[in-house]
Amino acid sequence: MIARIAGCVAILALIGAAPGASGRVVHYQPREETIPPILSDEASQIVVANCMSCHSLDYLTTQPRGKGTKFWRDEVTKMIAVYKAPVEPADADAIVAALDRKFGGGG
Ligand code: HEC
Repeated sequence: MIARIAGCVAILALIGAAPGASGRVVHYQPREETIPPILSDEASQIVVANCMSCHSLDYLTTQPRGKGTKFWRDEVTKMIAVYKAPVEPADADAIVAALDRKFGGGG
């Protein structure tokens, strides 16, 4: 009986010492990413500034080339409308233009 009580107390002590779900501190490291060389130029700054907060810029650079302006316009529109990317309307046009220059025309 004494042993059982002691066992219970020990278990309770353990539970008390363990960080509870609500008190757990989780440390997130900000995602580190180097800018791909193809997006390192001045003209791509607006893309870098707007398009890497949620996902890697690899999402952009690995798209098939030559898909044209409409593809990139649709992508940027989708990011804003569906995923709520905080892009200024005036910036959206500049982003589409920059992406189309880089990736839209087959080069
Ligand atoms: C608010 C978050 C957010 C921002 C900011 C954002 N995206 Fe996305 N993007 C997403 C999500 C979510 C997906 C889908 C991820 C998946 O399927 O794994 C995605 C996927 C993509 C894809 C892959 C193809 C597709 O449609 O799924 C491309 C290309 C893309 N984003 C381009 C962009 C561009 C260009 C910008 C800058 C204007 C941008 N994203 C900014 C959330 C974002």
